[in-house]
Amino acid sequence: MIKRTLAAAMLCFCVASPSMAAGDAAAGKEISATCSGCHGADGKAILPEYPNLAGQHASYIAKQLTAYRDGERENQLMSPMAAALTDQNILDLAAYYASMTPIKGVASEENLTLGQNIYRGGITSAKIASCTGCHGPSGKGNPAAAYPSLSGQNAAYLADQLKLFRAGLRNNDPNEMMRALAHRLSDAEIDALANYASGLH
Ligand code: HEC
Ligand code: HEC
Repeated sequence: MIKRTLAAAMLCFCVASPSMAAGDAAAGKEISATCSGCHGADGKAILPEYPNLAGQHASYIAKQLTAYRDGERENQLMSPMAAALTDQNILDLAAYYASMTPIKGVASEENLTLGQNIYRGGITSAKIASCTGCHGPSGKGNPAAAYPSLSGQNAAYLADQLKLFRAGLRNNDPNEMMRALAHRLSDAEIDALANYASGLH
């Protein structure tokens, strides 16, 4: 009870503080208990279909939490979790997960070459840009531009997201950056890219 009151008091203090842009990782930790049920206490998701959050960029996490809360990105499991978050809660949670050690993934050998070729070189005939341009050669993304890190992310989750972009069901990417690429990718290419990206570090 005392702990909860203290946490609430801390939140009120944060909301009233003038430095709204900065997240407080310790305050984020206080409110992360519900999140760890799916995303893990160490930011490693409990199922391969759920995203790891450890080491993801705070800018990107904050953007996505705001999008779920405001209905710009929708998911049955995730949207309700973001519904009651304040802007400060979002910044604090983003700071908390960004402060964690990133997960290291291991790609399977099976379609690694296809994934690597497209990731690094794109598909010129289909006007698909390389992924490197925005997500970087080691999949680290770009925090200033809120381009997500893909390295160490679960391959099953990455493949699902590429299919959602392809179908236009995920549509909060700026200037249709991801939809424009994904709608020309086959299932086999998506699986290969997801596998390759998950093993990057
Ligand atoms: C019941 C399981 C569940 C819980 C609890 C949950 N999430 Fe999620 N979360 C998901 C799933 C599933 C997705 C992927 C949804 C989709 O496809 O859009 C997701 C996506 C996300 C993403 C987007 C990741 C990315 O790479 O784009 C963020 C950020 C996130 N969750 C943060 C949180 C936070 C913070 C909490 C606690 C307030 C939370 N989640 C609670 C299941 C959950
Ligand atoms: C022009 C820049 C750009 C290029 C090129 C690009 N991406 Fe992205 N990607 C983005 C942005 C921006 C987002 C986040 C969209 C949002 O804000 O919802 C994203 C998101 C993603 C996601 C979802 C990650 C998550 O955590 O949910 C995946 C998967 C992805 N990109 C894979 C790829 C692959 C594979 C390629 C190459 C075929 C690629 N991207 C090329 C900019 C780019």
